[in-house]
Amino acid sequence: MGELSEAMHECASRVERMMSLLLPHPSGAEARLYEAMRYSALGGGKRLRPFIVSQSAGLFGVDPRCAIRVGAAVEFIHSYSLVHDDLPGMDNSDLRRGKPSCHTAFDEATAILVGDALQTLAFSVLAAEETHADAFVRCQLVAELARAAGHAGMCGGQMIDMRAETEELGIGAITRMQNMKTGRLFSFSAVSGAVLGRASRRHYQALQTYAQELGLAFQITDDLLDVTGDPELTGKPQGQDQQASKETFVSILGVDRARSQARILCEQAAKALELWGDSAHLLRELAYDVIDREA
Ligand code: IPE
Ligand code: IPE
Ligand code: MG
Ligand code: MG
Ligand code: MG
Repeated sequence: MGELSEAMHECASRVERMMSLLLPHPSGAEARLYEAMRYSALGGGKRLRPFIVSQSAGLFGVDPRCAIRVGAAVEFIHSYSLVHDDLPGMDNSDLRRGKPSCHTAFDEATAILVGDALQTLAFSVLAAEETHADAFVRCQLVAELARAAGHAGMCGGQMIDMRAETEELGIGAITRMQNMKTGRLFSFSAVSGAVLGRASRRHYQALQTYAQELGLAFQITDDLLDVTGDPELTGKPQGQDQQASKETFVSILGVDRARSQARILCEQAAKALELWGDSAHLLRELAYDVIDREA
């Protein structure tokens, strides 16, 4: 196994353990909700965002235990977004991470509540003292994650994504949509290390640039996998975007141009890390890994 996959594997196991500790265990009359939260958040996913958090935190000598908690928080938000994204009112998808999606395994009402509860759990993790000794830093993390996930970030992006099924929005609006629905959570993950490490504005901004380019390259690759991917590897249905007549980078540019656009973006992402030289080599490698992935 190469250094990057080994490091990602190690981080994924640590974040899985932390998430399992933070998630409630089924009990009481509400047990079904807890069971569905664990079903949706544990045992799958590439855990890319927590990896970015922990690599970014490593650049500033942050205690890895703090970084893993922030990684768990961002992964709770991400898992919630997938549960809601799969609902019949959104992408109506019955397969996620190689198993029935939450509303299919449970029911719609439970899936809505799972999303709500995972989202609030994320913020309570960030607000807890174990995440950082300085209350100002914790408050900044809460505010930044709220902005990344909310109306001007992921939720806003998902709204535009829904419109892209019935309207021709064009490349500018699609780029903005991708930045909001996917890029903002990547940005939060990358800058959270700088926030935890109370780094300078310059370092913060370099990580933000890295993540914006990476997020776009990542979503373009996701759209490509919707066309060319193998559900055995991606763990989700293929051809969903086309079936919904959804406008994406791929529907506008075609497969080849979308692929070269993703490459340009990941080169730009890697370049944004020049400040750190070799200490950022895994983040740099990750950018290339993301566009060559099959899952
Ligand atoms: C899928 O994200 C949703 C998008 C933002 C494109 P991932 O591809 O990171 O999903 P998991 O966490 O690995 O399942
Ligand atoms: C979802 O994008 C992005 C989110 C914010 C959840 P997609 O709808 O393309 O994600 P997949 O392909 O279902 O994983
Ligand atoms: Mg979607
Ligand atoms: Mg979807
Ligand atoms: Mg997709």
